[in-house]
Amino acid sequence: MPKTIIVSNRLPTKVLRTPDGLSFQPSEGGLATGLGSIYRQDGNMWVGWPGLFVEDESEEGFVRTQLAEDSMAPVFLTEQEIHDYYEGFSNGTLWPMFHYFAQLPVFDEALWEAYVTVNQKFCQAVLAQAGPEDTIWVHDYQLLLLPQMLRAARPHSTIGFFLHIPFPSYELIRILPWRRELLEGMLGADLIGFHTFGYMRHFLSSVAQLLGLPNQHGRIETPTRSVLVDAFPMGIDYERYAQAAASEAAQAHVQEYRAALKDVRVILSIDRLDYTKGIAQRLRAFALLLQRYPELRGHVSLLMVVVPSRDQVAQYASLKEEIDELVGRINAQYRTISWNPVHYFYRAFPFDELAGLYRLAEVAMVTPMRDGMNLVAKEFVASKADQRGVLILSERAGAARELADALIVNPTDTGQLAEALHEALVMPDEEQEHRMSNMQALVKRYNVFAWSRLFMERLAYAKTQQLNLATA
Ligand code: G6P
Repeated sequence: MPKTIIVSNRLPTKVLRTPDGLSFQPSEGGLATGLGSIYRQDGNMWVGWPGLFVEDESEEGFVRTQLAEDSMAPVFLTEQEIHDYYEGFSNGTLWPMFHYFAQLPVFDEALWEAYVTVNQKFCQAVLAQAGPEDTIWVHDYQLLLLPQMLRAARPHSTIGFFLHIPFPSYELIRILPWRRELLEGMLGADLIGFHTFGYMRHFLSSVAQLLGLPNQHGRIETPTRSVLVDAFPMGIDYERYAQAAASEAAQAHVQEYRAALKDVRVILSIDRLDYTKGIAQRLRAFALLLQRYPELRGHVSLLMVVVPSRDQVAQYASLKEEIDELVGRINAQYRTISWNPVHYFYRAFPFDELAGLYRLAEVAMVTPMRDGMNLVAKEFVASKADQRGVLILSERAGAARELADALIVNPTDTGQLAEALHEALVMPDEEQEHRMSNMQALVKRYNVFAWSRLFMERLAYAKTQQLNLATA
């Protein structure tokens, strides 16, 4: 039976070297958590990097065997490739550019060459797994060249591509020296998906202006094939989050946190360490809230979880220092013997503890500078069984297109953010319930299963259209 092969830079399981040997743990980030629930169905599999540099062939063999049991096939990267392709071109060039941090990207031919080489490496790994009838679904900005590479090797295969981060304006894309190659790489797919209509529009405009290929209702005719482009806002595994938050384990954690926090109200912030997430701005807004509303001091805390990420990339290391310093300054200024303004954790939380935090918090602050979608916002919504709680959401997160019942803010406007926090803390219960139930209905319905089903159906349709064209 034909299967679907999911391909992404990072596997949903990462392998860590510990003093006791190799340990296998769930990966962080929206892509891995979002797709993690669906790839195990129907004999599907996942090809990607296990997140570590293996030392020898026997270790490589061990990792390969372990992952195969869970339907994963690893692509191993050398230390140099991790440096040049992952930290370099993917996260030092494309990531900042696609998130509108236009001063940060590095333009270095050697990094680009590593990006091409590693995309080829992924291509070989996928070809080793893919039968002619299989569907190949490639994900995200680390693999923009892969669809075209696969197409060259398998002209008739069904290939989908989904971008999990924003696709920026043509004015940014045109700055990249390798802009044509990147767009052509994506066009190897039969269907290209984005989280929002806005990203899709930017992509179509870039393809028209840089490659001279117009589109009709999202269909691009290349000289050899036609490619469909569409928007598919990604969802979460709603029931998994709802059930986890309602579980006894989560309830036990809530009791434990409550006992420690007494009756202090909790504002929650959870992100990977990233300058796109607006973490420092969020801290400044919380400090402003305490300054403007002294009556809240002693009664509200910001519980901030920052999950370590990409710490070998210079900007991430300096952001960590900035956050450490800001937290230190706010706590030093306002704390009392019995109250801590910011509870700051620099680590990942196990799933049931996370569920406990979602359940505990009255307010979630999801205020990125730019974010393709942001699934934390949806996870918070799914966790609120009693429909109490307020989501503060950046207008520059893809999720803001759907979650109109959140308090929508401009994340750079510290004053507005502080006022939104205040509004959330004084919002009447009925209004909270009204907003939350609207958002729950949407997040529940457009869950990750609906998302992948829609994408797959559309991909099958795109393929049929192509076959009809070819035989016409
Ligand atoms: C974002 C990206 C993913 C990536 C994740 C974690 O969600 O869209 O492609 O896997 O961040 O980042 P990392 O660099 O640790 O894989």
